[in-house]
Amino acid sequence: MADSKLKDPKLIAITSGKGGTGKSSISYGIGYTLAKQGNRTLIIELDFGLRCLDIMFGMNGNVKYDLGNVLKDHMQILDAVTRVPSASNLEILCAPKDPFMTVTAKQVVEICRSVRKYYDFIIIDTGAGISSHVFDIVEQANLILVVTTPDPICIRDATMMSDEFYTRGNKRQRLLINKVSAEAIKSHMIRNLDEIIDTVGIQLLGVIPDDLMLKESTGKGQTLPVDAPSLEAFDAISRRLTGEHVPLVIR
Ligand SMILES: Nc1ncnc2c1ncn2[C@@H]1O[C@H](COP(=O)(O)OP(=O)(O)O)[C@@H](O)[C@H]1O
Ligand SMILES: [Mg+2]
Repeated sequence: MADSKLKDPKLIAITSGKGGTGKSSISYGIGYTLAKQGNRTLIIELDFGLRCLDIMFGMNGNVKYDLGNVLKDHMQILDAVTRVPSASNLEILCAPKDPFMTVTAKQVVEICRSVRKYYDFIIIDTGAGISSHVFDIVEQANLILVVTTPDPICIRDATMMSDEFYTRGNKRQRLLINKVSAEAIKSHMIRNLDEIIDTVGIQLLGVIPDDLMLKESTGKGQTLPVDAPSLEAFDAISRRLTGEHVPLVIR
């Protein structure tokens, strides 16, 4: 069984078996809402070659340094991070542009250890895929957020990931179900959500609606509108991460 309470989930890894489940969008949403709630937050993007956080936050072309400068040029991490204009407590460390650059779990741990005291939360947006490399990195987190969509293949991959983390001794996992459509909710989705939770076998942290506004905002680098359905979900998830009891409301 997973711990029922989230104690000090400072280093949070967002992961999934399958690509395209929404890890980066969720890192963006949770990072943004954690920061708006007053938490000093850093997002580290580990999806080498598929860098997107700069675009999502409307900073394409304005990111001077990235993880590549830390790994290759030994730049201080605090010098390599970029402040996000739309949320004053939020900083990002973008993935290197070079897709062939690699990072070891040891390097990630060292990076996080060295800046831990400056942040309330460090979110790691991992790359996709069930590789031992991703496992080694994610294992170092205080909390693993396993992302799935209601798609059966995605659920199976999430289950495999989660089982492997358990086998390796990391029981601090929570489930995020992303891209849940309003129509699906109206038609028996609640029962289906229960089935997903039972199949993956970890406690639910949140459900994020399929939200065109999220897709458009991240694509255009615009701030998520206040009436975006996903914003409410991200806000609730972030509050839960800080220990608040926020009931799950699915509309
Ligand atoms: N809740 C959501 N509603 C609508 N579109 C979403 C949602 N989450 C992610 N997407 C879209 O799905 C695609 C993949 O998302 P992304 O965050 O890049 O996934 P990953 O990082 O897991 O590969 C993007 O086009 C993104 O805009
Ligand atoms: Mg991604």
